[in-house]
Amino acid sequence: SAVELDRVAELVRSVPDYPQPGVLFRDITPVLADGEAFATVATEIAARTGEADVVVGVEARGFLLGAAVALVAGVGTVPVRKAGKLPAVAASRTYDLEYGTATLELPAGVVEPGTRVYVVDDVLATGGTAAAACALLTDAGAEIVGFGTLLELTALDGRAKLDGVRVDALLSG
Ligand code: PRP
Ligand code: MG
Repeated sequence: SAVELDRVAELVRSVPDYPQPGVLFRDITPVLADGEAFATVATEIAARTGEADVVVGVEARGFLLGAAVALVAGVGTVPVRKAGKLPAVAASRTYDLEYGTATLELPAGVVEPGTRVYVVDDVLATGGTAAAACALLTDAGAEIVGFGTLLELTALDGRAKLDGVRVDALLSG
């Protein structure tokens, strides 16, 4: 409900000048630490996963949210990881962040062509992370059902980088 999401919004912590000066970092750690808020978020996002076969969570907070969403939705979860963490890699993609660059990798052997995936991350900011994750998946032949996030920073217009992908954001700021 709207009241519950208001409470969730109060639990999102804004940390100035992290990880570098000028960036206001949105930290969802207090949301995850609150059982009721965590359940509300997982349930609300799971309700938007539709016909997805699997939920993809993006490292790192996207893992926590994505796994919870997958469990509620009754499907499996696949991690998209930062470079160098996976023992067997299907594909890699480098992208720009608000601060620097990063590379994401899709694990080998778990996303077959035609798989319907729902991608989850904690925050949609510039959209670089989400776009890279979606590109890895579409290159693998997956069908992106949607992208779900707890918080969309609308001023950064990240959803413009996700053309054709439905964006579900529980909160915007
Ligand atoms: C943060 C956040 C999103 C991403 C959003 O992750 O968790 O994944 O930034 O930013 P973007 O839309 O501009 O790409 P970060 O790269 O800080 O790493 P982490 O999740 O591993 O902490
Ligand atoms: Mg992240």
